[in-house]
Amino acid sequence: MTEMDTIVSLCKRRGFVFPGSEVYGGLGGFWDYGPLGVELKNNIKRAWWRSVVQERDDVVGLDAAVIMNPAVWRASGHVTEFTDPLVDCKSCKKRFKADDLQGDRCPECGGDLTEVRKFNLLFRTFVGPVEDDASVAYLRPETAQGIFVNFGNVQTTMRKKLPFGIAQIGKAFRNEITPGNFIFRDREFEQLELEFFVKPGTDEEWHQHWAHERLDWYVRLGVDPAHLRIRPPDSLAHYAKAAFEIEYLFPMGWGELEGVANRTDYDLKRHTEYSQRDLSYFDEETGEHITPYVIEPSAGVDRSLLVFLLDAYHEEQVRKEKRVVLRLHKDLAPVKVAVLPLARNRPEIVALARDLAAKLRKHMPTMYDDTASIGRLYRRQDEIGTPYCITVDHQSAVTEDAKYDGMVTLRERDTMEQVRVPLTDIVAEVRRRIGC
Ligand code: GAP
Repeated sequence: MTEMDTIVSLCKRRGFVFPGSEVYGGLGGFWDYGPLGVELKNNIKRAWWRSVVQERDDVVGLDAAVIMNPAVWRASGHVTEFTDPLVDCKSCKKRFKADDLQGDRCPECGGDLTEVRKFNLLFRTFVGPVEDDASVAYLRPETAQGIFVNFGNVQTTMRKKLPFGIAQIGKAFRNEITPGNFIFRDREFEQLELEFFVKPGTDEEWHQHWAHERLDWYVRLGVDPAHLRIRPPDSLAHYAKAAFEIEYLFPMGWGELEGVANRTDYDLKRHTEYSQRDLSYFDEETGEHITPYVIEPSAGVDRSLLVFLLDAYHEEQVRKEKRVVLRLHKDLAPVKVAVLPLARNRPEIVALARDLAAKLRKHMPTMYDDTASIGRLYRRQDEIGTPYCITVDHQSAVTEDAKYDGMVTLRERDTMEQVRVPLTDIVAEVRRRIGC
């Protein structure tokens, strides 16, 4: 089992994730993604979008505004229901989520605790120059509502018939009482949400379908199935009739990775009531207006990024030395190939390697590195999950002291297997292996 500290330290050391506004001491629950982190995050989003939207003909995409009319959040129930139970310590003034406490005393100092009260997780802001009650707005706590209020727009413009879905990727914000476990629980995070609209009566079958389809997605991207399970949650959200949680075996135990909820017709009916606009669907088969039911697979980008890193991380002994390798799926790896010259003091070799890296870069994220010995360069690439390394050596280029063969060495990350490939074929060979 990979420890969380190991991943936190790898992320910092190699440029995946940094504490947000670190030079000012950070801010709890906010994180910045570094050069490799942003690539990994984009690859996760791309893989999800491809699987949920582009490879299906029954799902379309949307990109709605983060800040919406506050009436949206009154209708959705978030203004009154989106709360966690909060207690304060009367002595040290620390705050806790009541659900997380074992006894009735402060876990930090043993002091007396206040009565439990409801704490609303919505972040408030103001729209326009006047900061009064009339200008209060909220940062969205889920991307889903942008989809519900656009149900009519999307359905009519795309002429979609049930069952069909609308997918969205975007930031969400929650003023969590206790953010923590690295990027597991943040105050700013990103969601991958699908609202799949179905005829009432077919909802339970679709609920099962999506729970399994989503679990399979993680497995297809390399997560060990033994580290995943589907479970009913301990409690249901205010909008749900039933739910599944796709859980992962995190270092702190099993925890939610993705929720798959049956939201029924709750949201569309509430928005119809509050907006006075008809959000029903005309069923041509029966000639009736119906309000569709909704199955909602909802995942976190940050949380799944943590899972992909935890699951890919391996330490092994190679020739009596520790090798750290991130066995990331090739579609997720931030860098697909690294080009490494065997001797950086040989201009012919360096020129050839740089030229090869430039050619590869047109097709895939490529790194050129000549700042250490070849052994160290391989280790560095293993640690960031680069599937292939290409070494350019004295025989690859025309040099005075070696026999020219015009070949380079292609090394595979997981097996460390090395093959010689002609320079003329190498770009095509790596493209074939990466699939781009
Ligand atoms: N629209 C439904 C919804 O938002 P949720 O179970 O509250 O449901 C869905 O959130 C997913 O979003 C979670 O499974 C998790 O992956 C991610 N998520 C929720 N809160 C988060 C937080 N504070 N930090 C990071 N990810 C979070």
